[in-house]
Amino acid sequence: MRIAVVGSGYVGLVAGACFADLGHEVLLVDNDEAKLAALQNGEVPIHERFLPELLARHRGQKIQFSGDLQDAARASQAVFIAVGTPPTETGDADLSYVESVAREISGAVEQYKVVVEKSTVPVYTSQWVRTIIMRNGADPALFDVASNPEFLREGTAVTDFLYPDRIVIGVESDRCADVLREIYVPLTSGSYYRNPTAIPRPDRAQVPPRLIVTSTRSAELIKHASNAFLAMKISFINAVASICEAVNANVQQVCDGIGADSRIGTRFLNPGIGYGGSCFPKDLQAFRSVAKECGYEFRLLDEVIRINEEQRHRFLRKVRGVLWTLRGKRLGVLGLAFKGGTDDIRESPALLLVQDLLREGCHICAYDPAAMGRAKEVLQPGVEFASDPYEAANGADAVLILTEWEEFSALDLDRLRKLLRYPIILDGRNLYDPAVMAARGFSYHSVGRPSALTEDLPAGVRPEKKERL
Ligand code: UDX
Repeated sequence: MRIAVVGSGYVGLVAGACFADLGHEVLLVDNDEAKLAALQNGEVPIHERFLPELLARHRGQKIQFSGDLQDAARASQAVFIAVGTPPTETGDADLSYVESVAREISGAVEQYKVVVEKSTVPVYTSQWVRTIIMRNGADPALFDVASNPEFLREGTAVTDFLYPDRIVIGVESDRCADVLREIYVPLTSGSYYRNPTAIPRPDRAQVPPRLIVTSTRSAELIKHASNAFLAMKISFINAVASICEAVNANVQQVCDGIGADSRIGTRFLNPGIGYGGSCFPKDLQAFRSVAKECGYEFRLLDEVIRINEEQRHRFLRKVRGVLWTLRGKRLGVLGLAFKGGTDDIRESPALLLVQDLLREGCHICAYDPAAMGRAKEVLQPGVEFASDPYEAANGADAVLILTEWEEFSALDLDRLRKLLRYPIILDGRNLYDPAVMAARGFSYHSVGRPSALTEDLPAGVRPEKKERL
């Protein structure tokens, strides 16, 4: 099928590349000419596993890049809208890009087509998109609007797309549902997975995925509610971690215990310095606004957001509790991205912590495997950047682990200890076992687990006891 994908950001680029791998003819549309030229020249603007391979495989063949939205929409049976929906000052999603795309599409509705919202949008958006397209002259019999939310995580977006837990399509007519079913048939029939060139299957994936057909409004709510629920899981376990610290329990053991209940599960129960990224913070605010507009005060979400912010402040207090004064202290920081496997620093708790520490007068030498280019734009001057974790740790008063990169969980600990001024590690992502770290000669402090102390601190100032709930 010929498909136009409007917006070559995270979602659009991944969706376009994956649709091409499913065998569709994709027209990827963007109004940023520099971006289009870069994509045409073979550049890959985001750090995302398997995306370079897919773009190289299909560029110029099953994927064409275009700056002409109307032409692309006219030539396509389905038009996916994947433009940004940034937050406004009040926390609502700014839907003006979606509206202007809808307006332009209206001029291209000559034969039946389906217009699909792929961006995360509030409930009722599809209805508005339909109204705008009609208001601008399109024949209502010649198009339908659907909602097909994405559940991609950065870093694993390609495999999340091709091996999804479920595919949700929100539609108002059978005709529209049939078009979307056809688009995803290589996944739902399992034929894609038998293809020898298919992107390899991740361990956990169940194939073929389930297709869930709902109304457009339900689909819009599924996306917001999914993200809110996942963020709630993270804040919940972070709150439990704070109690663990107060009573000297181990949050890891608590997680194993509660996660073994199949109704709860262990995923998204990793405590840390809080969630960040381009989705959870923005989507929670937007969902709260949507709820308010519908007359419901979603106070649970206020608390999820509050716990998340508090988690970062707690970690800062922990650093202070271990190092005492902060002015002039030299810290090696490992990780700046909002999570491992990505170069994205949007709403990164790691980056926010570095900014807090700079305000406290610390000297920071930071390393991140992928996010330093972006972080330099925000943190320089003021922060030194290292070319590996050991250079960041060299001569430091302590090392702080702030992002859950896999390579940070396999450091050469002897080398690290020798480079540090004091063998102190504050791990905001619980990447190591405290007992192992103690045996390797470190004072090791993590989140929600007893600290391993190799030195005697004055009585009563063990950091986890100093923390107030
Ligand atoms: C999220 C959703 O997972 C995805 O379905 C949606 O489409 C977009 O938003 P993403 O933002 O890429 O994806 O990252 P995710 O892996 O969900 O992590 C979000 C944040 O939560 C990161 O800062 C991560 O470090 C943090 N996190 C995640 C935890 O602190 N603990 C966990 O157990 C899981």
